Amino acid sequence: MSINISVLGSTGSIGTQTLEVVDQFKSQLKVVGLAAGGNVDLLKAQIKKYHPKAVSVKREKDARIIEKAHFGDEGNCKVATLPSVDKVVIATPGLAGIKPTLAAIGSKKTLALATKEVLVAAGQIVTRQAKKNKVKILPIDSEHSAIFQCLEGREVDEVKRVILTASGGPFRGMKARQLKNITPSQALKHPNWKMGAKITIDSATLMNKGFEVIEAIWLFGVPLSKITVVVHPQSIIHSAVEFIDGSIIAQLGPSDMRLPIQFALLYPGKRGKNNFRRFSFGDFSSLSFEEPDLKIFRCLDLAFGTIGQGKTMPAVMTAANDIAVAAFLNKKLPFFRIPDVIESTLEVHRPRVYSTMEEILEVDMSARDIAAKFVVKFGFK
Ligand SMILES: NC(=O)c1ccc[n+]([C@@H]2O[C@H](COP(=O)([O-])OP(=O)(O)OC[C@H]3O[C@@H](n4cnc5c(N)ncnc54)[C@H](OP(=O)(O)O)[C@@H]3O)[C@@H](O)[C@H]2O)c1
Repeated sequence: MSINISVLGSTGSIGTQTLEVVDQFKSQLKVVGLAAGGNVDLLKAQIKKYHPKAVSVKREKDARIIEKAHFGDEGNCKVATLPSVDKVVIATPGLAGIKPTLAAIGSKKTLALATKEVLVAAGQIVTRQAKKNKVKILPIDSEHSAIFQCLEGREVDEVKRVILTASGGPFRGMKARQLKNITPSQALKHPNWKMGAKITIDSATLMNKGFEVIEAIWLFGVPLSKITVVVHPQSIIHSAVEFIDGSIIAQLGPSDMRLPIQFALLYPGKRGKNNFRRFSFGDFSSLSFEEPDLKIFRCLDLAFGTIGQGKTMPAVMTAANDIAVAAFLNKKLPFFRIPDVIESTLEVHRPRVYSTMEEILEVDMSARDIAAKFVVKFGFK
């Protein structure tokens, strides 16, 4: 019997790679729902190829030109909760993923989660609901897929520490003055991974690694004190787990997001043979490791501080980061000012305990307004 999947963010980097995995396993995986933002042409091509039962787009005007299309948050939730769906791939950017994630959990669908911002901002609600509904959250992020694979069959109390690897991004080893004149096109050139624009910038600032630390805390139930970030420029070891007996299990492979996607889509079934490129030890005469420079990559340092404070702080951090990254990409904010916008937004926020999605969405909106003001303060004059 095939696994029926809905893909939210089907026209993006993760979404299109998910469909490439589906193409490799046609007898095992069937697309029944697709949701996208505004790339209507690509979505139409996907509809023609996969014949989904439901589709959705971001805006109503685009929904009018696609037969029986839904739109907005409601549309995403429809696609995520179709009765025939077994697994929902969440690969929309940022908090656009939160409502369909919770809707899918409420309908007891297994999640294959790429959108880390959902766990960063609202990890407490998402993991609580998943536990209550006995829903499994399978990570698509390569690091978390690696940790998941290293942990298979082991208990959390056997874990000494989780080792999250980071490529270090395109500006690894640079001095502060060298970061002064970084352009969007320089920051969009990731050394190892081809990804959407927002996560590529987050990788360049190392904010992405900060998000991933928070994601790991929620996914695996390990405290911050048991998580180590290691810069590993070759991105071959995707992450590792050290156990209490001193043994370390690491997961290695090519930098190809289709592998963690495939793992999540087929899980808990057997691993499947594909025709993706293979890793060769001959291509790498050495693998290297170093500590992240928190003085230069201040976003990671800010993330560590935010985790310590907890409550609504991570939600504020993601919102401010969204605004700062968008401003940088629109050439309104220098690259080195991204952490200033985030730090200033965090400073004016009073952290509070939250228990509902509405509270998080409210905090998100207000943090965005505040961050926009700091973009004006720190932006190009
Ligand atoms: N790319 C990676 O390798 C990677 C790795 C790990 C984790 N992630 C995470 O996965 C998520 C997606 O990343 P990405 O790189 O795939 O981003 P991306 O290439 O920018 O794609 C985003 C997708 O979401 C769609 N979208 C935008 N707004 C939407 C809305 N309101 N409702 C439904 N769909 C919407 C976009 O549609 P249109 O293009 O049609 O506008 C596109 O299909 C991010 O949270 C990222 O951090 C990505």
